[in-house]
Amino acid sequence: MATSASPGDRPCGIDFGGTGIKAATVDLEVGDFTAERLRTRTPDPSTPEAVAEVFVALLGQLPDSRGPVGVTVPGVVRHGVVHSAANIHRSWIGTDADALFTRATGRDVHVVNDADAAGLAEVRYGAAKGRRGLVIVTTLGTGIGSALVHDGALVPNSELGHLEVDGHEAESRAANSARESEDLSWEQWAERLTAYYRTLEKLFSPELFVVGGGISKKADHFLPLLDLETEIVPAALRNKAGIVGAALYATE
Ligand code: BGC
Repeated sequence: MATSASPGDRPCGIDFGGTGIKAATVDLEVGDFTAERLRTRTPDPSTPEAVAEVFVALLGQLPDSRGPVGVTVPGVVRHGVVHSAANIHRSWIGTDADALFTRATGRDVHVVNDADAAGLAEVRYGAAKGRRGLVIVTTLGTGIGSALVHDGALVPNSELGHLEVDGHEAESRAANSARESEDLSWEQWAERLTAYYRTLEKLFSPELFVVGGGISKKADHFLPLLDLETEIVPAALRNKAGIVGAALYATE
């Protein structure tokens, strides 16, 4: 098991998003980076081939990582193949990303949905550590990502950001990008988030919600304003969750 891997065999996580690509070597014993992460802009257009080139360059700068590589993608991933691309180039749809990246990098690469990776990390090391029952981890960013984790086991590709709430696709109204572009107050945004999380409560009766994404740093401004039955807490790993979760996924 990777937690006893020698430092040179450590896994690496790569977080591929619409604006940036971030990479770090991960120590799975503690669920943290071994050194500062690297970051570069996502190429435009963000085609699979262009992104693979960036990965090769980034991995070359992480000399202490020779283990498996986990990659997060903001879309549905089944058996290494990407099946949706709401916020990335359309040519990802149908791409066997596991095979492409493994060929390009010469490493053992495993691709996972971005929110699923964050969910795995929060349950193993973060805000939902040790929690039994159903935990729903949501990431509020450009879109809304979701991870369903039951007794520590991930049910992948839940895509709950695309649920219809009050006649709208949830992420178009309640993602952090909607708050920014519509210049919503915390109170206005909290109202939309309440409607969203209440829908999730009705459908799933979870034990706990964890709220991730960059905006979770400002959880004090909006989480206390939500009116829910279920406990809701900010993510603990913040922007490290995707990379750590991807490395974990690649290893297990
Ligand atoms: C995508 C999901 C992704 C989420 C967060 C949604 O638009 O469909 O796959 O997890 O955005 O990036």
